[in-house]
Amino acid sequence: MPVITLTVNGKERKTECNSGEALLWVLRNRLGLTGTKYGCGEGQCGACTVLLRGKAIRSCRAPADSVSGQSIVTIEGLEANGHLDHVQQAFLDEEAFQCGYCTSGMIMSTHSLLLANPNPTDEDIVELMDGNICRCGTYPRIMAAIRRAAHDVKDMKAKKS
Ligand code: FES
Ligand code: FES
Repeated sequence: MPVITLTVNGKERKTECNSGEALLWVLRNRLGLTGTKYGCGEGQCGACTVLLRGKAIRSCRAPADSVSGQSIVTIEGLEANGHLDHVQQAFLDEEAFQCGYCTSGMIMSTHSLLLANPNPTDEDIVELMDGNICRCGTYPRIMAAIRRAAHDVKDMKAKKS
């Protein structure tokens, strides 16, 4: 079986991989990174979202061998020194989950959104998070968490300047 090299959460990882095998299954089954979830397998729910060069992608639809050598970040790569990052903390503070199945995908999509648009309006949030589905219907709290994360980024920048 071919071996590919992926850059995941800042580390180079070599792994066997079938031709065309979805990045989702390589992350979960070969690299043990099970925070990225399987929902629909068809690019429609966002549960499997990871960042590829800072942009949200659906890992169920991306062949792992097509992203070899590019920077991938999963939910496991966000915390540092045992501390949640600001988006994770905002979701926790707003209790923006019930079962939590959608949460890692929501958090990764929020990162992508805020990197592209640090000051999103509610309309921007709805538009950019449209592909992430929460079966538990916690959308109002998810909106609040994203607003809070955006506000926290502004705060952090203001304190640095
Ligand atoms: S599992 Fe990938 S979008 Fe649903
Ligand atoms: S919290 Fe259950 S699917 Fe979103």
